[in-house]
Amino acid sequence: MKPVKVGLLGLGTVGTGVVRIVERHQEDLLGQAGSPIIIEQIAVKNTNKLRSVPIDADKLTDDPWDVIRNPEIDVIIEVMGGINQTKEYILEALASGKHVVTANKDLMALHGQEILAKARENRCDVMYEASVAGGIPIIRTLIEGFSSDRITKIMGIVNGTTNYMLTKMTQEGVSYSDVLREAQELGYAEADPTSDVEGLDAARKMAILATLGFRTNVALEDVSVRGISSISQEDIQYAKRLGYEVKLLGIAERENDAISVTVQPTMVKNTHPIASVNGVFNAVYVYGEAVGETMFYGPGAGEMPTATSIVADLVAVVKNLKLGVNGQQAAAIFRDKKLMSDEQ
Ligand code: HSE
Repeated sequence: MKPVKVGLLGLGTVGTGVVRIVERHQEDLLGQAGSPIIIEQIAVKNTNKLRSVPIDADKLTDDPWDVIRNPEIDVIIEVMGGINQTKEYILEALASGKHVVTANKDLMALHGQEILAKARENRCDVMYEASVAGGIPIIRTLIEGFSSDRITKIMGIVNGTTNYMLTKMTQEGVSYSDVLREAQELGYAEADPTSDVEGLDAARKMAILATLGFRTNVALEDVSVRGISSISQEDIQYAKRLGYEVKLLGIAERENDAISVTVQPTMVKNTHPIASVNGVFNAVYVYGEAVGETMFYGPGAGEMPTATSIVADLVAVVKNLKLGVNGQQAAAIFRDKKLMSDEQ
C-alpha cells in the first residue's frame, strides 16, 4: 500500500490542526482512504519557531516552491492564505499533477474558475470545503446532497467574527471596539479584520456558495456588500425591543434566471432559527424547491473545526486516487463559460 504524501503550505493555527488530525486519526484515515497518509514536507515562514506539534526539522522549509516542486508529493494542502502568489503556487502544483486542498476563500472566490479549469485540464482534484463555514460540510452538501434539487435561496451567517461581535453587543452590551479586540485575541478575525467587519469575508463565502448552489458562476463583484462597522448599541437595543436580532446575513436568491447575492446587517425575527445562532458559530439555511427548508449549523472557524474539513477533503482526494477519478468534481463544478471557450 503506497503511502500518499502531502505537502503543507503553512503551519499556523489551521495547519497545526491538520497535523494533529492526521497523526491522531492515522488508523481510521487509513481504513477510509486505503493508504497511509504522510505529511512529507511543510513550508513555514520561520523554520526555527517552536511548534505545539512534534515535527521533524528536516521536513520544514521556508520556500513554498520546495514543496510545490517536490516530486515525492501527491497532494498540496494550502493553509498559508494570500492571493496572487498563492495562486501561482497552486496553478504550478496542478500543472505538475498534484492535487490541491485549500481553505482559501479569498483565492477561490476571486480565482476559483481559473483554478478549477487548470485542475480539469490536468485531471487533478481541487477541494475547498474549509473555505466556507469552517467545520460545516456545506460545500459537499451543496454539490452532492442537493444535486437532485433546485436551490432557490441560500441564507447564511458565514462570518464567525462578526457574529461573535454582534452576539456580545446584543447580550452583554459590550462596545464595538472592545468586542473587536476580543475577537482578534481569540484568533477568529482575519489578519486584517476590515474584511470581517466590512462584510468582504462573508461576501467571498457567499459568492462560493451561490456558485455551487445555483450551478452558475457568481463573481465577487456581483455581491452587494455592507458590513457591521456602522452598527451601534442603539441599533441593536432598538431591534431587540421590537423582537429582532441584528445579524450579518448573506442572502443569495434566484428567481427564474435572475440571481441576487447580498451581505448586510439584517434584523432577523427572534423566532427564526437563524436568530439563535450565536457566538463564533455559523449557519447556512438552504431552500430547495423539492426538499423545502434545511439548515446547517456548526463552528465557522478555529483550529480543529477547519482542520476537520481539510482532512475530509484529503481523504476524498485519496479515495479518488484509488478509483482513478481525480478531476471529475472540478470538471463537474467548473462554470466559467469564458474560460471554457478560451480552452477550445
Ligand atoms: N475570519 C473568519 C471568520 C475566519 O470570522 O469567519 C473563518 O473563515
